[in-house]
Amino acid sequence: MGMVVAAHPLAAEAGLSILRHNGNAADAAIATQLALAVVYPRAGNLGGGGFLVYREADGKVHSLDYREVAPAAADRDMFLDSAGQVVTGLSTKGILAAAVPGTVAGLEATFRKLGSGQVSWEALFKPAIDLAESGFHITAEEAERLNKYRDDFAAFNPPDMPFLKATPWVTGDLLVQKRLASTLRKIASEFCKGFYEGTIAEAIVETSETHNGILTLNDLESYRPIWRTPCHIYHGEYRLYTMGLPSSGGVIIGQVLQMIGDKLDPEKGFRHPDNVHLITEAERRAFADRAHFLGDTAFNTINLNILLSPEYLLEKWMDFDPEKATSSQTIGINPYTLTLEKFETTHISIVDRNGCAASVTTTLNDNYGCKVWVPNGGFFLNNEMDDFTIKPGAPNFYGLVGSEANAIAPGKRMLSSMTPTIIEKRGKLYMVLGTPGGPTITTSILQVFLNNTVFGMDIHDAVQSSRYHHQWFPDQIQCEENAFSPKLVEALSTKGHNITWVKSLGTIEAIYIDSTGTMVGAADRRRMDDHVAAW
Ligand code: DON
Repeated sequence: MGMVVAAHPLAAEAGLSILRHNGNAADAAIATQLALAVVYPRAGNLGGGGFLVYREADGKVHSLDYREVAPAAADRDMFLDSAGQVVTGLSTKGILAAAVPGTVAGLEATFRKLGSGQVSWEALFKPAIDLAESGFHITAEEAERLNKYRDDFAAFNPPDMPFLKATPWVTGDLLVQKRLASTLRKIASEFCKGFYEGTIAEAIVETSETHNGILTLNDLESYRPIWRTPCHIYHGEYRLYTMGLPSSGGVIIGQVLQMIGDKLDPEKGFRHPDNVHLITEAERRAFADRAHFLGDTAFNTINLNILLSPEYLLEKWMDFDPEKATSSQTIGINPYTLTLEKFETTHISIVDRNGCAASVTTTLNDNYGCKVWVPNGGFFLNNEMDDFTIKPGAPNFYGLVGSEANAIAPGKRMLSSMTPTIIEKRGKLYMVLGTPGGPTITTSILQVFLNNTVFGMDIHDAVQSSRYHHQWFPDQIQCEENAFSPKLVEALSTKGHNITWVKSLGTIEAIYIDSTGTMVGAADRRRMDDHVAAW
């Protein structure tokens, strides 16, 4: 018995094979991430970072932060020109966008603290090494994505890298990554020293130097993942365990759930203007706090006891008007416009035979990170530096603005929205879920939770149901194309909301445990490759 829900069938099956061979959810989470680094190169990674929330069968919960950190030579104004203006693209493409990767250190920390001891570290690498060495047939989605980023690959990388070929990629093409296979073999035999020191570390630094970057051997050697107290939120009979800072996810979900309390009306349904208005107004206020206050706690004093206290949130809610949208201008700083592209991150949900649960979100930030691939390592580097506030008030790739709390500083972790989540109902494991989607991660998770627990949808409907999102600025409800009827749009417009349409919000990977203990997997149909593997 066991289940893995992930963004690619081959990765989900890799995790499942570990569960079948006596591995636990932690072992499977490692093998799935490694396989994703091969078969889902746009977001699966060795050159990025992530978060793990883990619940042992006895209910003990852990959270691991293996977020990337800014290199020692990073500077708060490194993405501004001499006139203090943001240099477009510098924080998203090319080597300066890359922060020090955390993934490999995170995998080793997971293995040492939570692994079953029944499966060796090396065995966890086998499926990924085989997929990289012998190749695998790419899906239609991957072909589309590889073709879309062809020019970027060509601009930053040698012509013989495996993602460049003379003719366009088509479904079923074989993708072989020999270089990556040998890096995986090295980490399999040397643990994370094989990545952060020696030839792979040198390959990363050499790549960085070739592109005039600032990554050093010392940056790599000094990287450390951090076990953190998981963020937990009580909501009625549910308890949500999720990621605290440097993820903003726990704070946002905690604030929104407290602000809406039991005010949603299940009878009116999920798409009733009063319910949408209520959720939107709570999201608007929570995202304003994200921008003002949140950042790496090693560099800021952030009093979560205040930000999550009922008194503080009651105060924030004082200007809520059931009939009218509050203007984001009256809550905070400057507006701007947002262009929505397809971003990429990836989430894995796992439950093993003993009921241990792993919820992992990992990313390079944008598709294929900063697009720079390490020739002697075989992997892409992230573009996570863009998650810092590169200039107060200037929107990042996701349209998020921030403040000093999230300014760039050497060794600092950039604020994230990734929110791997595990939910208990009356003390029992109830749901494991997460999603990609930048800032829409938090609101997507929130909606799946509310769809199920307030509006009575089963897990499949809760996941597939269309979604919307508000993040304070831009002052718009971003709404999936089929989410709101003309009547609902009219009712919300009358209240003063601006509606914009987006193609899709998030890709949830969820496992629901019903009252008999049966696992039900739900992989989001917004993407074609998402997959539930179970035995
Ligand atoms: O950490 C963050 O919030 C972002 N780097 C996540 C990016 C993301 O979710 C892209 N995926 N669709």
